[in-house]
Amino acid sequence: MQILITGAAGFIGFNLSKYLLENSKLKVLGVDNLNNYYSRTLKLDRIKELKKFKNFKFEKIDITNKKRLNNFLGNRKISVIINLAAQAGVRYSLLKPTEFVENNILGFYNILNLAKKHNIKKILYASSSSVYGDSNSFPLNEKQNIKPKNIYALSKKINEEMAHVFSSQFKISLIGLRFFTVYGEWGRPDMFMMKYLNSSYNKSKKFYLNNYGNHTRDFTYIKDACKIVTKLLFSKKNINNQIFNICSDKPINLSKIINKINKLTNRNPRLFKRSLQKADVIKTHGSNKKIIKKIGKVKFTDIEIGLKRTVKWFVKYYKI
Ligand SMILES: NC(=O)c1ccc[n+]([C@@H]2O[C@H](COP(=O)([O-])OP(=O)(O)OC[C@H]3O[C@@H](n4cnc5c(N)ncnc54)[C@H](O)[C@@H]3O)[C@@H](O)[C@H]2O)c1
Repeated sequence: MQILITGAAGFIGFNLSKYLLENSKLKVLGVDNLNNYYSRTLKLDRIKELKKFKNFKFEKIDITNKKRLNNFLGNRKISVIINLAAQAGVRYSLLKPTEFVENNILGFYNILNLAKKHNIKKILYASSSSVYGDSNSFPLNEKQNIKPKNIYALSKKINEEMAHVFSSQFKISLIGLRFFTVYGEWGRPDMFMMKYLNSSYNKSKKFYLNNYGNHTRDFTYIKDACKIVTKLLFSKKNINNQIFNICSDKPINLSKIINKINKLTNRNPRLFKRSLQKADVIKTHGSNKKIIKKIGKVKFTDIEIGLKRTVKWFVKYYKI
């Protein structure tokens, strides 16, 4: 079986491709536009790693390029698409909202339309915990109303609605993945954990701690997220047109995470504490009852272990 992973040079796309190549016989086709929202070197290094597997192939394609995507799909037999390509970054959505409309909404529309044209019957796609906005009803569950508070979150809500329409009109099985703060090896340099490690090892880098460290996040280890997505990919149950929280259900305060990282690195970067940033939500804490009901019990990685592996990878990759 051959699958297409979009955003394969990204954090989740890379780790998921690697996980599938190591643990299944699938042929993985990866596409990515290798944009420079963060380090292209990191993205190219991820692709280099994946190219070590004989069952992996990569093409630099932008999902907003309908013609190229159409030619690409037309020449290959693809059974499933996992759409992880997107413009991510909540704060960046205040600066460059158009990027989110083009890549996340129009890009996903192309994927859906071309899947219909090429008779691809299953699509898993990334949504986000940010669709919940500033809800106060914890743990967040998939049935509650969602209230996006920035363009990024809105683009994900629209993706879910588009998926709903395509799933019912064209009999494509569409499965939405609401990821909650994923962290781990090969992580995103624009996210809290990698930014903090960067400041820890690079004295000149200031670390701005937003909302005075009073954010709470449901940190979810990358390999747990990959295992869950893999189980959904191979699931024989009827999961058509469903949306799942992908989360550990163990929220942690950022100040606590900082203490844990400091112990591991033996460093103590200077913090510049500042108020809540405009697009940010204060707390995320998801319920993972629905996903566990579908795929069975998941053994989530303890945060101490996940952090240890993350720091170890960081030190090795950045040659510290
Ligand atoms: N990492 C998280 O904690 C998290 C949380 C919630 C949701 N998500 C979602 O999961 C998905 C993957 O996130 P990630 O953390 O790996 O982000 P990432 O930025 O590392 O990966 C996204 C990849 O998509 C590529 N891309 C962007 N626009 C593209 C386009 N038009 N055509 C082709 N490729 C394009 C980028 O170059 C990048 O490599 C995204 O949809 C993101 O919104 C991630």
